[in-house]
Amino acid sequence: MGKKIAAYPGSFDPITYGHVNIVKRTAERFNKLYVIVMNNPNKEYLFSLSERLEMVKTDLKGIKNVVVDTFDGLLVDYLKRHRIFNLIRGLRAVSDFEYELQMANANRSLFPELEIFFLMADTDFSFISSSMIKEIANYEGDISKWVSKNVEIKLKEKLSK
Ligand code: COA
Repeated sequence: MGKKIAAYPGSFDPITYGHVNIVKRTAERFNKLYVIVMNNPNKEYLFSLSERLEMVKTDLKGIKNVVVDTFDGLLVDYLKRHRIFNLIRGLRAVSDFEYELQMANANRSLFPELEIFFLMADTDFSFISSSMIKEIANYEGDISKWVSKNVEIKLKEKLSK
């Protein structure tokens, strides 16, 4: 059942070092990791799907067994189509748990063969979120500890418009 392939979906608006950390740790333990840039219909995004995809591709370029893709549909449909039976999500704090549990139950109900793995975010990144970074960048604060140079530039460009 495609045991050595996993997927790590998210909004990545924008990708942070917290996401990169989860990707690197997962990529070491699976033969292939699909990082899927998706839409959460409940969110309003700063960057378009294609802008988010480009930033993710740039930040993850050096990791050989990672495939970056995008999909504007139901996650389980993508997973079924690509025969991916392992899903990765990162957990930063207890506050993530309820939402993740709900999503995990829904996804497993739609796709019972799916196994979902939760990785604890490293402590250095456990408090960062894309929203927080956008807020700090909006006030021209220093975000260089949490995002790549490329993302920093893209954020500056976007927020100055
Ligand atoms: N380090 C830093 N930040 C992290 C992180 C980590 N390891 N893991 C998550 N985050 C942050 C993100 O930056 C994001 O912050 P924000 O809310 O401030 O933007 C937040 O945690 C959650 O982001 P993400 O993990 O991308 O989840 P999401 O809720 O935006 O999107 C999808 C989840 C896209 C996977 C989900 O909506 C989905 O599957 N959509 C497709 C449609 C579908 O199938 N829906 C049914 C789902 S049951």
